[in-house]
Amino acid sequence: FTVDWDASAAVKEGYPSFMDKEIHDQPKAVADTLLGRTSPTGALVLDELRIEESVLRAVDKIIVVACGTAAYSGHVAKYAIEHWCRIPVEVELAHEFRYRDPIVNPRTLVVAISQSGETMDTLMAVRHAREQGAHVLAIVNTHGSTLPREADAVLYTHAGPEVAVASTKAFLAQITACYLLGLYLAQLRGTKFPEELRDALAELQSIPDKVAEVLSREEEVRAEARAMHEATSVLFLGRHVGYPVALEGALKLKEIAYIHAEGFAAGELKHGPIALVEPGQPVFIIVPSPRGRDVLHQKVVSNIQEVRARGARTLVIAEEGDEAVVPYADVIFRVPQTSTLLSPLVAVVPLQIFASELATAKGLDVDQPRNLAKSVTVE
Ligand code: G6P
Repeated sequence: FTVDWDASAAVKEGYPSFMDKEIHDQPKAVADTLLGRTSPTGALVLDELRIEESVLRAVDKIIVVACGTAAYSGHVAKYAIEHWCRIPVEVELAHEFRYRDPIVNPRTLVVAISQSGETMDTLMAVRHAREQGAHVLAIVNTHGSTLPREADAVLYTHAGPEVAVASTKAFLAQITACYLLGLYLAQLRGTKFPEELRDALAELQSIPDKVAEVLSREEEVRAEARAMHEATSVLFLGRHVGYPVALEGALKLKEIAYIHAEGFAAGELKHGPIALVEPGQPVFIIVPSPRGRDVLHQKVVSNIQEVRARGARTLVIAEEGDEAVVPYADVIFRVPQTSTLLSPLVAVVPLQIFASELATAKGLDVDQPRNLAKSVTVE
């Protein structure tokens, strides 16, 4: 009787890499982050937010500071928080924030997002903000880390330990936690009808099942990634919340597959990036729900047409039942129907799977890419 698994394989639960395991942990990461944060009446209870309600009511600006994938989660959250709370949200890379002269005062809520809670640039940004009287909320995955101790309050993401350098489940959990914060502030400040907030929360609770559905179709994405293992450049386009998803899709490919990849706001195409498109150029396009704002969907469909007309190979992430993309898509990865604001939680998953499989096909170490660290604790 022999066992083929070594200790590390056992921790990977049979997946070939930690990243693959963590991609599959995502339904649980989202569900656990939502757990215990609603009352029996359906209201949000964030008891851990030890910032006085009067202070939260008076907030007139939110600044998200973070690095890497965590910054993209803030970028996604900006759309939802501004919509629900009517508070302006700026998203800034922590290392940029601390070396300029940002306008920060006691009515500013700084939200510092970090998987590790140890990223030096993020810690420094938090110190800089607090010195100027801002209130700081940390969204952190790692208990016992430094960032929560430097902040006024902490909202933990419950993604569980993330081992792979390229962040996946922490990203989904960070977006989820930001959405909880946005819905909570909206509830507190009365900026939306309770029904709208209840519906958004109910939809958030349906996300783990939707992510599981995307995962059940992973083989389609993996087959495509294997076929593209010789690609040297991949572009990603999105609008609205699809824009930070495009940035994150490109980041994953750079980090672990060492492919030159860029994400663009699709509306910016005509201002430069379209010059890059030559026959055969792979372009991923993240398409918003056709059931949302029509004009947004139509614009992205036009962008697919524009790049296709110049010979691009179009890989489209589109909702089930969206037939408008069919004539212009070389490949379609379907995701379940989800409202636009919540769609990044499903749309990013095929991009994570794609990067992981492509890196594997190139024979690379998916979990420990060259030159990168899981947590950057130096400036
Ligand atoms: C490093 C990691 C990234 C991560 C970033 C921020 O660059 O390789 O995956 O997104 O740091 O890390 P944090 O722990 O602050 O979320």
